[in-house]
Amino acid sequence: MGIPIHNKSDFEKMRVIGRYTYQLLNELENIIKPGISTFDIELKAISFIEKYNLKSACLGYKGFGNIPFPANICTSVNHVICHGIPDKEHVLMEGDIVGVDVTIIKDGYFGDSCRTFAVGKISEKAKNLIETTKKAMDVGIQQAYHGNFLGNIGYEIQHFINSSPIKYSIVEDYCGHGIGTKFHQEPQIEHVGQKNSGIKMQQGMFFTVEPMINLGSKKTKLLKDNWTVITKDYSLSAQFEHTIAIGENGVEIFTKD
Ligand code: MF3
Ligand code: CO
Ligand code: CO
Repeated sequence: MGIPIHNKSDFEKMRVIGRYTYQLLNELENIIKPGISTFDIELKAISFIEKYNLKSACLGYKGFGNIPFPANICTSVNHVICHGIPDKEHVLMEGDIVGVDVTIIKDGYFGDSCRTFAVGKISEKAKNLIETTKKAMDVGIQQAYHGNFLGNIGYEIQHFINSSPIKYSIVEDYCGHGIGTKFHQEPQIEHVGQKNSGIKMQQGMFFTVEPMINLGSKKTKLLKDNWTVITKDYSLSAQFEHTIAIGENGVEIFTKD
């Protein structure tokens, strides 16, 4: 129990899985275009996972209920906030946006990262939503350093989103999480918060920052498949996620180059 503090060798293992996670998302990004199905993204992920002897943390995962997740990755299109299930019948169309969230395991260590991609040419408002969501993640990650309050991650994301001239909302029903040798563990990372609230971050903590930003209301709805989370008002939603560490000299982002 409690928040694990990781050592040098844990950092080494996270660097390895973090790089695979980054490369996997790069490869998936390359195939995204109008006319492919979300299951084509799944198939590409499966071949990458097999090629490098990795394991998907998503396939069979029961973390949020009793129904095992039926795929290797999550693909969340347009008003789907997160945990969308790849589907042969769901063909991407010009103007769609798709969040691709991958969590893979090597040597018992987990890498978790998500990006939202444009399918062909997209509207100005969708483009702004994607850029703003990426920026929100970056603003949160900037607060991740030894001795800072954990709540400042959410506080700064909220401050950034609220100061935007376009009205966005931040999803509160799903959060970032501790990670390392488990998929989801302490601490919970909220994407809204009070200044200087919560525990102080310590060197050796691993967690994700993964804001979900909506063009309409923050309210969520869970579909009958027990996984797919959508915006209640069907507004567009985007997400970005990195797996990071509180390092010796500030933050270390594992899931990037
Ligand atoms: N990758 C998601 C996260 O960021 C969790 C997906 S669980 C799954 O926490 F089972 F839906 F894959
Ligand atoms: Co995550
Ligand atoms: Co994820």
